[in-house]
Amino acid sequence: MHVITSLSEIKKQTAQLRSSGKTIGFVPTMGALHAGHLQLLQTAAEQNNVTVCSIFVNPTQFNNADDYRLYPRTLDEDARVLEAEQCDFLFAPTAAEMYPEATQLKFDFGPLEQVMEGKYRPGHFNGVATVVSKLFHLVNPHRAYFGQKDLQQYTILNQMVQDLNFDLEMVCHPIIREADGLAMSSRNRRLTAEQRAIAVHLYKALNLAAELLKTETIPQVKETVAGYLSQFTQIQLEYMEIVDVKTLQPLMQFNEQACTALCIAAHLGDIRLIDNIILT
Ligand code: PAJ
Repeated sequence: MHVITSLSEIKKQTAQLRSSGKTIGFVPTMGALHAGHLQLLQTAAEQNNVTVCSIFVNPTQFNNADDYRLYPRTLDEDARVLEAEQCDFLFAPTAAEMYPEATQLKFDFGPLEQVMEGKYRPGHFNGVATVVSKLFHLVNPHRAYFGQKDLQQYTILNQMVQDLNFDLEMVCHPIIREADGLAMSSRNRRLTAEQRAIAVHLYKALNLAAELLKTETIPQVKETVAGYLSQFTQIQLEYMEIVDVKTLQPLMQFNEQACTALCIAAHLGDIRLIDNIILT
């Protein structure tokens, strides 16, 4: 595996690969890799000649300084894991090179970012779109792989790719879960044993909501789910939204014909976790 930190070097390497006819599959990450990330990489390897994984804890997408400071950074271990997975290129730039100066461009995704993560994490998607568009320009992949775990991120980046004519295919990968159902996340590493044991109730709450939707109205479902989670004093529910998968707008009424996503965000201590399920 080639480990590259310089922007000009990754540009050069990927341009050479392209001109020799190789297809490039790209998996952008912030590291602290887990099996969810590795599944994305495996799919990228199956569908392309060459894989590039980036690891960059992007400062501009954190709206909470402590979350940025405490975000797990395990680059050496991640590099070993990627090597074992036969990743071809690890791109791990520095913040100084990615952001020599503060960027001025601002993204506005309208209603897509006025709900859920965008509502509770102001500026988050501006930072995500900024870094991902920079990475797309540097890596110039044929396909880019994202997880359904961050459903709103995928939807917004898909919009960005359409609006700005990025010449690549966006691939959304299903959520990889722990044996008990907890969605894998780099932030899970920061959970205490006690927090880890109850974190699974976020997923259980989503499944409860899916079941209740068959017989109850959306306000009733939200109320019951909030009640269910309130028995776990360590879980502070931020939101549970029932939305249209395409528009991400909250639904007033459940309609079995429309594609519906149930999305949840909650704090366990100072750790914020998100999860979702899509009803098919
Ligand atoms: P990060 O949280 O490291 O996630 C990298 C990719 O892995 C994202 O597309 C995310 O949705 C996916 N992922 C995370 N957990 C997953 C799981 N349990 N199952 C399947 N996929 C999962 O998302 C980011 O980094 C950043 O915002 C980034 C796009 C790299 C921009 O900085």
